[in-house]
Amino acid sequence: MGADLATLDQSKVEQFFGKAVQDVAATLHAGLVLIGDKLGLYRAMAGAGPLTPAELAKRTGTRERYVQEWLSAQAAGGYVTYDSPTGRFTLPPEHAFLLLDADLPGAFQLSVGSVRDEPKIADAFRTGAGVGWHEHDTGVFEGCERFFRPGYAMHLVGQWIPALEGVKARLEAGGKVADVGCGHGASTIIMAQAFPKSSFIGFDYHAASVGWARRTADKAGMADRVTFEVAAAKDYPGTGYDLVTFFDCLHDMGDPVGAARHVRKSLAPGGAWMLVEPFANDRLEENLNPVGRLYYSASTLLCTPASLSQEVGLALGAQAGEKRLRDVLTEAGFTRIRRVAETPANMVLEVRA
Ligand SMILES: C[S@@+](CC[C@H](N)C(=O)[O-])C[C@H]1O[C@@H](n2cnc3c(N)ncnc32)[C@H](O)[C@@H]1O
Repeated sequence: MGADLATLDQSKVEQFFGKAVQDVAATLHAGLVLIGDKLGLYRAMAGAGPLTPAELAKRTGTRERYVQEWLSAQAAGGYVTYDSPTGRFTLPPEHAFLLLDADLPGAFQLSVGSVRDEPKIADAFRTGAGVGWHEHDTGVFEGCERFFRPGYAMHLVGQWIPALEGVKARLEAGGKVADVGCGHGASTIIMAQAFPKSSFIGFDYHAASVGWARRTADKAGMADRVTFEVAAAKDYPGTGYDLVTFFDCLHDMGDPVGAARHVRKSLAPGGAWMLVEPFANDRLEENLNPVGRLYYSASTLLCTPASLSQEVGLALGAQAGEKRLRDVLTEAGFTRIRRVAETPANMVLEVRA
């Protein structure tokens, strides 16, 4: 390293160092979020008012000294507030909402699981080989489900399906739906609960995820209305689907054009494909923001290696953007593509032949 310190702008050095310190702290803090989630520390604080470390430790069956250190980090990070005169810590209701109702620790579980696999990804940078979705730490699969489920619960039935022309009516009357790349099946089960006259089948190439989805459906008492099968996007069985859905998975596939061609063949006349992808603008410079940072990072550790592990290896990346997605869909023979909804995390396309 040959930088001549005298030539550097000191304020820029300090500014960047400050940013990096925040990132290092956030990386370490991710482990503390997992601990708070696992041991029920956040849950015990929700609605409990100001608590001392001893009180929180007693409520959660944990050791005071550890809890004291954990709470201090939570306060330094702005997750809880600290009242110095009483030595008590409070979890504000807005934070409790995000940490508990919106299951925010799931995003940390996904992140920590991805980071655990960094050595595999660093090797892949050198060799160019892919790393399949199935090769990851189980925290990735569980965290992924927890990360996406709240958004699906909030938008899928109330906004996204009604935004597709004629689809809600078809599903209310009794339609046939395939949810491809369904992972742990959160989206499949949410849809099946909303449309009891329709039949739902979730497909994923990852057998362990399919097993998980089946168990979840069973626990939810939905096993007779929703089934899950191991199948890849290019050869899942069945035709005549009124609706095919892909949630956050097309860009993970090696051959998205091949998958799209298969969707076209599997749709019923007048059937629709709902394609949900991470929100992204078309140009890199338009994605240089916190959401872009999150997705490009996840894409480097998860999505790009996943695609490169499969045939073709197109590697769209998690920030492909609508224009690039349209190219893929058009190449597969689709002619009607419409953006019907978007959230800060997702864009939803209606795709028809
Ligand atoms: C980011 S996860 C999304 C899972 C789920 N749709 C959700 O929204 O929670 C991507 C999923 O795509 C699946 N997948 C990747 N390539 C696939 C392929 N070629 N065929 C079927 N599933 C695939 C993975 O196994 C994984 O479950």
